[in-house]
This record gives sequence, structure tokens and C-alpha cells, in this order.
Amino acid sequence: MSKLAIDGGKPVRDDFLFFHRSSVGKEELNEIEDSFKSGWLTTGPKTGLFEKRFAEYLGAEHVLGLNSCTAGLHLGLVALGIGPGDEVITTPLTFPSTANVIEHQHAKTVFVDVEPDTLLLDPGLLEDAITPATEVIIPVHYAGHPCDMPAIMSIASRRGLHVVEDAAHAIEAKIDGKHCGTFGDVGAFSFYATKNMTCGEGGALCARSEELLHKLAMLRLHGLSKDAWKRYDKGGFTHYECVVPGYKYNMMDIQAAMLLHQLDKLAGFRKRRLEIVSRYDAAFSHIPELGALTRKPNVQHAHHIYVILLNLDQLTLDRDEFLNAMQAENIGVAVHFRALHLHPYYQNKYGFKRGDFPYAEAASDRIVSLPLYPSLSDDDVESVIAAVEKVVKHHRR
Ligand SMILES: Cc1ncc(COP(=O)(O)O)c(C=O)c1O
Repeated sequence: MSKLAIDGGKPVRDDFLFFHRSSVGKEELNEIEDSFKSGWLTTGPKTGLFEKRFAEYLGAEHVLGLNSCTAGLHLGLVALGIGPGDEVITTPLTFPSTANVIEHQHAKTVFVDVEPDTLLLDPGLLEDAITPATEVIIPVHYAGHPCDMPAIMSIASRRGLHVVEDAAHAIEAKIDGKHCGTFGDVGAFSFYATKNMTCGEGGALCARSEELLHKLAMLRLHGLSKDAWKRYDKGGFTHYECVVPGYKYNMMDIQAAMLLHQLDKLAGFRKRRLEIVSRYDAAFSHIPELGALTRKPNVQHAHHIYVILLNLDQLTLDRDEFLNAMQAENIGVAVHFRALHLHPYYQNKYGFKRGDFPYAEAASDRIVSLPLYPSLSDDDVESVIAAVEKVVKHHRR
């Protein structure tokens, strides 16, 4: 058995394979150049066009381009009037911003544990967490797998609650043909560098109604009654008025320039992601020390993240040692996520401790995310598999 690279052996590949590389090309570059030549860089016609095309893609009517998904989650809570004294329910197995926006509104973050097999917010535990102060549920379509939205929406409507979907991972995710992010009052999408389509930093939201969209559009740009590009166009001069102290969350045309082409490429990206997922599935199903997340039938998974679960009782290393061994083999890896209730801010503020959300904790100690992006070559994929096999083989009990 060849020595592990972390112990001084030769790594499975000579160059380092990044956990993620964005797939952007000359189409995006040409469109950015066009924006440069036009002299219009900030929110303008390209943002408008992207909003229209993304809305068509989602089969939705009310879409706004933003500078992040976090902005969309935050605007959703602001527009729904969430503030001190309110409670908002979400999952602890998420990126900090999902809950940070609740804290920004001085509301109370209430975590509900995940299903152990999918790592999605467990609708079966929701009812017990709802109190008279509960106002919103934020389900997270973790890794790109749709949450059980029919169950969540039915609880929300029965208990008079709003739903803001965190669809950061879920651009292509659907349930019975309906896109994730279009079930709730607001759905927020991310176009961050690692996401299934990207402009480096960016996001969008989808709103349930025209009325809510208007409110969100105003909040997105300082709470002004007129967008900048409408103020400066050829029509008669109009003064803006600050109607509410809003935010600076608008998308720039330079971001939209990239996204227009990323949207065109999304189906091709997905085809390659699916090939990689199939190859990983086939290879890892032969390794008894690894577990996989359950994928439910009849949903479309966005396959944003490929997660393996280490069966730690069958291995002689822990998850962080596994990460270091993989990186030494020249394979970039990541963790999505370490349970948020055990991060210092949430632990200190709410007094959370180990044992509070056992499934999220157990997962967050044993999950590893592997590279999954369209520009991975077949050889890259084989090198990831070879590294996983090598590290596991050295650490079998
Ligand atoms: C689950 C989840 N929600 C929200 C976000 C925030 O997205 P953004 O960086 O676009 O604000 C992320 C970012 O990775 C995420 O993974």
C-alpha cells in the first residue's frame, strides 16, 4: 500500500485540485466589455433583462436581482415586518447568514433539527417549535436537495406563518416541476463564486406577489421611490424620495452581464455535474466506511454539493484528519456545514450545547464535501476517488 502523502508519500496527483473553480468564459467577458463600452455599470437594462430571464427560468413572475443571497434572506424578513419579539425557525445545518439575518432584525433564532438521512429541516419537528411568537420558517434546500415544501407550506398555512426559502444551493431544484424558491413568500438564490451559476458575488429573490415585490424593490435600493436608472433615463426628470430607510443590496449590470450567459450554460453545467455524481456514487457505494445522503424520488436535485459521510466507528481517523489527509493528496475538500448552534455567537447568546440538535451535530462531525463542478475532467474525478479510497484504506479499523 503506497504511503499517504500526509505521512511523506507521493500524493495521488501532482497539482492541487481546487475544491471549486468557476466556469466562466469569453461569452461573459464579451458581455462585460459591452457594459464597459455602454458606460452603464450599475443596476440597469442588463439587470432588468436578467430578472426577466431568470423569472422565466423559474416559472415565476416576481424576481429581483441582488448583490447576494444573504441580501434576499434579509430583505424577506424586513419586508415581512420581522422584528424584536418575533421568532424565526431554521435549521442549524446551514451557512451562518441564514440565521444571521434573523439576528440583524433583533428577532429570536429558533433551530429545528434535520432529518438524519437527508440533512434537511425535519417538518415532523416543526409543530413543537412553533410558539405564539413564531412568524417565519426558513427552510434550506441543503446541497441542492429540495426540502419537503408541501409539508412545510401546509404547516405554515395552518399556523399562519410566513416562509422564506433559502435556495442558495437550489437553482435547478424542483418538486413536481415547481422550482424551489417559488413556494414561499420569498425565495433567495445565491450566485456566489462556488454556486451552480455565478457572477462572483450576487443573488436574486423571488417574491410571491406584485405588492411584496414593490416593497422589496424599494428596500433593495435605500428605500427610494425611484430606481437610479429610471431617474437618469430620457423621460422627464423625477426626484427620488426616501420612503423607508432601505439597504444597498442592488445587482450591478456587470454582474447581470455574466449571469445572462451563465443562465444559458446552466443546462450544460448540470449535465456534467450529473455525470460526476453518477461516477462518485458508483465508486463510493463499494466503500463500506462511507455513507451517502438519501435522495428522495420524484424531486429534482440541484446537485450543488456532493457530500460523503464518514462512518467514524469503522475508521481510525476523525473527519478533520480526513480533510487534512485529502488536502495532502492534493484534493481540495470542504465542510457544509459545522452546526451553527455550536458557533460562538449562537452558543453564547442562546446557551446552546452539544446534544440540543443531535442529528445536525452527528452530521457536522462526519460530513465531507468533494469537488463537484463542470470543468472537472474525468481524470480529476478519478483522482478524487483514488484519494478517498487511499485515505480510507489506510485508516480501516
Ligand atoms: C445555505 C446558504 N445560504 C445562504 C448563503 C449566502 O449566500 P451569499 O454568499 O450569496 O450571500 C450561502 C452561501 O454559501 C449558503 O450556503
